[in-house]
Amino acid sequence: MKKVLISGGAGYIGSVLTRMVLRAGYKVRVIDNLRFGGEAIVDLLNDKNFEFIKGDTRNEHDLKKAVKGVDFVAHLAAIVGDPACAKDPELARETNLGASKRFYQIANEAGVKRFVFASTCSNYGKMKDSDAFVNEESNLAPVSLYAETKVAAEKFLLSQDKNNICKPTILRFSTVYGLSPRIRFDLTVNEFTKELALGRELVVFGEQFWRPYCHVVDLARAIRLVFESDIDKVAFDVFNVGDTNENYQKQMLVDEIKKQLPDAKIKYVKKDEDPRDYRVNFDKIKNKLGYRITMRVPDGIAQIIKVIKEGFLNNPDEAKYKNI
Ligand SMILES: NC(=O)c1ccc[n+]([C@@H]2O[C@H](COP(=O)([O-])OP(=O)(O)OC[C@H]3O[C@@H](n4cnc5c(N)ncnc54)[C@H](O)[C@@H]3O)[C@@H](O)[C@H]2O)c1
Repeated sequence: MKKVLISGGAGYIGSVLTRMVLRAGYKVRVIDNLRFGGEAIVDLLNDKNFEFIKGDTRNEHDLKKAVKGVDFVAHLAAIVGDPACAKDPELARETNLGASKRFYQIANEAGVKRFVFASTCSNYGKMKDSDAFVNEESNLAPVSLYAETKVAAEKFLLSQDKNNICKPTILRFSTVYGLSPRIRFDLTVNEFTKELALGRELVVFGEQFWRPYCHVVDLARAIRLVFESDIDKVAFDVFNVGDTNENYQKQMLVDEIKKQLPDAKIKYVKKDEDPRDYRVNFDKIKNKLGYRITMRVPDGIAQIIKVIKEGFLNNPDEAKYKNI
C-alpha cells in the first residue's frame, strides 16, 4: 500500500482528492492547519487508512513529522486566490513560496519519491493575442501576488538537482468548479450559478474575457494520474490540467447557466481591461499521460443548481464557503 501525504487535504480540492485516493487503496495522511475548519474530512477519522496531522506547512517540525514513511506528496496547502493573497501578503509569500521550498527539501531528505505541486493557469496572465492559446512553453506573466508566488515556487522546484530522489511535477490547474465537502462559492462557475439559482440578479464584469475551467473531481484525478504514471513521463515536468474545449468567456458561462435557468436575470458591466485573460491548450497532459476529463461546465452547473434548489446547504452565503 503506497502512502500519500496531502497538504491542504481539508480544502476544496484536497478533501475530494483525499477521498479519491483512499478509495483507490492508498494510505493517506493529511496535514492541514484547518484554516476553514475540518468539517470536510471529519468523517474520515473513522477510516483506518487515514491519518490527520493538525500542522502548518510553515513549520519545519510539522513537515518532518508529516513526511515520515511517505511515498508521494500532493502539495495543495496555500493561501488561494488573488483577494486572499492581497489581504495578507506576508502570509501568502511565506505559505505559498517559503513553505513550499522547505517542504520539497524535507520531503527529498526523507526519501519521498514524488512531489506534485498545485499551481495555476493564472500564471499565464494576459494573452497578447486574444485569439491564441497558451501552452506549457508560453511565457509566464503573473499579474497578482498569488500567481507570483506560484511561479516562483515552480521555478524553485524545476531548478532542483535532477538526480534527487524526490521528483517534482507541476500541475497548472484551470479554475475549479463543482461539488466538494468544502465547496467554494468564490469561484466563477459556482458563484454565478449559486446567485442565479437563488433568483438574484447577477452582475457580470467584462463578459468577453477567457479562462479555462475544470471540475474538482477531474483535477483530483490528474493528481492521482501523476502518482501512477511512469516516472520518466512526469519527473521535473509541467502540465496544464483541463481540456482545450473547456475555455469559456464569462458570457459563454452565463449562456450555459441560462439554458438550465431560463429566467436568470443578468446585468453586464463593460470592462475593457482584465489582466486575467487567457485561453489554454491542454494537449500535453492528454497526449503524454492519456488524461481525459469526465465532466464539463454544464454538468457542474446542474450540480450546483440541484444543491441550492433542494436545500442541501442551510445558508449558501456563509463566509465559510469563501476564501476571504
Ligand atoms: N480552486 C482553484 O480554482 C484553483 C486553481 C488553480 C490552483 N489551485 C491550487 O490548488 C490548491 C488547493 O486549492 P483549494 O481551492 O482547494 O483551496 P482551499 O483554500 O479550499 O484549500 C487550501 C487548504 O490548505 C490549508 N492551509 C492553508 N495554509 C496552510 C498552512 N500554512 N499549513 C497547512 N495547511 C494550510 C487550508 O486550511 C485549506 O484546507 C492550492 O494550492 C491552489 O493554489 C486552486
